[in-house]
Amino acid sequence: MLNDVKQVLITEEQLLEKVKELGEKITNDYKDSDNFIVIGVLKGAVVFMSDLIRSIELPLKIDFMAVSSYGTSTESSGVVRILKDLDESVEGKDVLIVEDIVDSGLTLSYMHKILKSRKPASLKICTLLDKPNRRKVDLKIDYLGFEIPDDFVVGYGLDYAGKYRNLRDICVLKPEIYKG
Ligand code: PRP
Ligand code: MN
Ligand code: MG
Repeated sequence: MLNDVKQVLITEEQLLEKVKELGEKITNDYKDSDNFIVIGVLKGAVVFMSDLIRSIELPLKIDFMAVSSYGTSTESSGVVRILKDLDESVEGKDVLIVEDIVDSGLTLSYMHKILKSRKPASLKICTLLDKPNRRKVDLKIDYLGFEIPDDFVVGYGLDYAGKYRNLRDICVLKPEIYKG
């Protein structure tokens, strides 16, 4: 697995420090909420989300949604579909969507639209990574970890063809891996 890595972009230590910082901000911003739900976008957000919720010192619930736009390629297909919906209603709740990365923005703008229509009390977005150069649709990010260049990254939840999610750092893959 590590043989396929060209470079470590963000170390585990930097990731955990940032997660702590985001958790403190979120704790402060949601301290008056009595109906706080954190929604993770499967599967990429799972690792970040599991660290993030443990750095939020407030009562909260979690739920997951799976929407996919990528399939197995490195380019967005532009098609977003719901593979798994939420278990519970978000009506009247303070909803925080957690993502691993915003690329074209299609996944999150779609999710934002869907969840907004379900009448939450509030709706915000937290993403660990952002590739602003790749944006195709306008999107407001409320909590951001790191802005990164347009390299194909894996690890800490992010995959290539379903693999590498369990790498502890955010890594840049060797181009020969995904160019075949
Ligand atoms: C990736 C990533 C984001 C989305 C970002 O998910 O985890 O959810 O793409 O791209 P976008 O801004 O261009 O929509 P993917 O569809 O690969 O599914 P996964 O999370 O299961 O890996
Ligand atoms: Mn994803
Ligand atoms: Mg993926």
